[in-house]
Amino acid sequence: MSRLIVISNRVSTPKPRSSGGAQGGLAVALAAALRESRGLWFGWSGETAEEFTGQINMQRVDGVTTATVDLEEQDVDEYYNGYANRTLWPLFHYRIDLAEYDRSFGSGYERVNQRFAETVAPLIEPDDLVWVHDYHLVPLGQQLRRRGLKNRIGFFLHIPWPPQRLMVSLPFHERLVRSMLDYDLIGLQTEEWLESFHHYVTRELGGTVEPDGTIEIDGRRVKTGAFPIGIDPEEFRAALATDEARQAYDTLKRSAEHRKMIIGVDRLDYSKGLAERFHGYRRFLEEHPDWSGRVSFLQIAPPSRGEVHTYAHIREDLDQLSGRINGAFAHVDWVPIRYVNQGYPRAGLAGFYRASDIGLVTPLRDGMNLVAKEYVAAQDPDDPGVLILSRFAGAAHQLGEALLVNPYSKDELSDAIHAALSMERTERIRRWEKLIEAVNRDDVGSWLRGFVEVLRGERTHAPAEPAI
Ligand code: G6P
Repeated sequence: MSRLIVISNRVSTPKPRSSGGAQGGLAVALAAALRESRGLWFGWSGETAEEFTGQINMQRVDGVTTATVDLEEQDVDEYYNGYANRTLWPLFHYRIDLAEYDRSFGSGYERVNQRFAETVAPLIEPDDLVWVHDYHLVPLGQQLRRRGLKNRIGFFLHIPWPPQRLMVSLPFHERLVRSMLDYDLIGLQTEEWLESFHHYVTRELGGTVEPDGTIEIDGRRVKTGAFPIGIDPEEFRAALATDEARQAYDTLKRSAEHRKMIIGVDRLDYSKGLAERFHGYRRFLEEHPDWSGRVSFLQIAPPSRGEVHTYAHIREDLDQLSGRINGAFAHVDWVPIRYVNQGYPRAGLAGFYRASDIGLVTPLRDGMNLVAKEYVAAQDPDDPGVLILSRFAGAAHQLGEALLVNPYSKDELSDAIHAALSMERTERIRRWEKLIEAVNRDDVGSWLRGFVEVLRGERTHAPAEPAI
């Protein structure tokens, strides 16, 4: 069996199982695959150094080897805060109004991709399978080829692929996409993003797409496919069974005082549609005064990418918005919104999900969204809550039995909240059974196996997306 080499911007250092350390499903699944193949996980340490030395910090925890490097401050500014999060992230989430184009970002991005390639290349053996992740590292495959690597190299994009008409607003877009032709396999989350990618390739690069998703340009052939990522439902249910989850459940239930609970959990990011969600909830309170004092909305939003100004602005906006809603609707013994800028461990979140009657997951655009799947996995089969889900999240392709909404419409959000609060138990169970089936089917294991099998050449194309 060939070793698997995972390369991503961030490396999740495995927590020793003996410490009971909590980790996300993706990190757990990748760690399992790395352990099994005796591979390694390479990326940025999250630390900065005066000068880039390429010195690798190798660690082995619980059978998983990680290799990390420090970056220079200028690298972090131009590559991570710059090109990745001020240029590509907004553009790929359809926000060309927020995307910034600066020559220094592009050169910093290329420099860090080169630095990654030159550092990791000596660690790669001839029959290793190489798997590159996400928008930070689009040109890494090309950089590795330039260093003579002949291995099979795959790329998976965790975020959406934008429509061709938006993509062309990126200076040097062609150069970026052409750099992807050195991969053997390119994976996207859903058929929708795959279609946008194919459209770009045919319109802008003059390529052709075969029925199995193989693209051909100038005599080069690259496989492509949709591989929807999922959670590990077993691992999540195990988290739910811990004391920590039980305590979180009790705390939330007690604080709700028999009110219905609505929960949202998102990184503080403009793509998550938090301001729109708050407006929708406000509309619900205006239209349904009979629910005043009988419902409570908990929004957990840990800050993220604070050095990027658009993230600082959204934080200010939400502080104001939540304050205004509470000012307008609260009573002495009730606040309509609890807005918390802090992260919680997974087990605690699992308990909060279980204690909530509605999961509100309404991003304006999202590659997949695993909170939606975790909310479903945390529910009581005999009395499940209702998932309200944006139709613009990749997860909507699998979770069609959620109440699907247009997150830009406060009226739709208000109506969905009302419908969810009024939904009969039999209807909630009927929908949840369909949802959990999808969560179990498209789990993180099938995502991982599906991608690796196609990359290895054991299977020719991605499994078809199930009809919903
Ligand atoms: C998204 C991206 C990931 C990223 C995560 C957290 O899910 O697809 O690549 O790691 O956000 O963002 P951060 O900038 O904190 O790594």
